[in-house]
Amino acid sequence: MKVIVLFVFVLGALSAAGEEFFVKVGGKVTLNCGVNSYRRSVQWSHGNDFLHSVDQRGFTRKGTVDLARRSLVRQTNLEISSVTETDAGNFKCLVDGTRHEHSLSVVSVWVNSSSVLKLNDEATLQCEVKGQPQSCEVKWKSPNTDSPTNPSKVQLKPVTTSHNGAWECIVTCGSNKFSESLTITVQEPTTTTTTTKSPSKPNGKSSNNDASPRLLGLAWWVWVAIGVGCLVAILLMVCVIVLCMRVRRRKKRFLKMKGQQRPRHKKYCQCDHPTAAAKPKQGRRREKPSALPLHPA
Ligand SMILES: *[C@@H]1O[C@H](CO)[C@@H](O)[C@H](O)[C@H]1NC(C)=O
Repeated sequence: MKVIVLFVFVLGALSAAGEEFFVKVGGKVTLNCGVNSYRRSVQWSHGNDFLHSVDQRGFTRKGTVDLARRSLVRQTNLEISSVTETDAGNFKCLVDGTRHEHSLSVVSVWVNSSSVLKLNDEATLQCEVKGQPQSCEVKWKSPNTDSPTNPSKVQLKPVTTSHNGAWECIVTCGSNKFSESLTITVQEPTTTTTTTKSPSKPNGKSSNNDASPRLLGLAWWVWVAIGVGCLVAILLMVCVIVLCMRVRRRKKRFLKMKGQQRPRHKKYCQCDHPTAAAKPKQGRRREKPSALPLHPA
């Protein structure tokens, strides 16, 4: 057990050398302090700005700078959201009196105009890193190419269809590498409506650009489907009603037939009598049934 604790301490001491973190503007990042737990207190600061402190009783203190509002301490780590360029720089985490220093680099990529460009427009793609103490190599990889061949500032002059797609800025600072992508949409001239609409579809998730006519916000085929569905439902109902009626009628007829069977049998019986035509004898129906069970044998 002691060996493991010692091992953890050695690991902690090694990582105390400082880590370099990268994040894009607007993104979210977790800065690992370097040790996983504390006994007395944790304190984070950014440059000279105090951010947070937490002690073992759960007592917390928060700095007044903007970054303190966008960040929080989880165990010993600092979570920052909605990163801005000014968040770049040195961070210090003080755990039980031991300092761990880290650096955060913030990468931003942008087009000087809109990311939706027209053919023959002119535009500049830029990629920048803030907060790196050492110099970094910053290059752009254009869509459909394998290696970053462009500098940190790419001029699209003029914009062509080959510029359409995901560009990637690759930042290399010593042994650290970070990449951030930027999607450029190149629209062709609006002379033909179909060609301009196809490239914008994958980006804008809505399919509202459909050329098909609409009624109450629904496409025509939806109405056709609803109509057909109603028709089928009505037909089914009619079928069921007709079937029910038929079954009921058949039942009635069957019952009627059953009811008629007795007198018929009786008539058979009566036929054996020499005076068959004697109608008044039907009045004696109630007396005769004694002969009925004998007959089917
Ligand atoms: C963007 O940069 C290009 C040059 O690459 C320039 O011609 C154009 O005017 C710039 N657009 C804006 C909005 O600054």
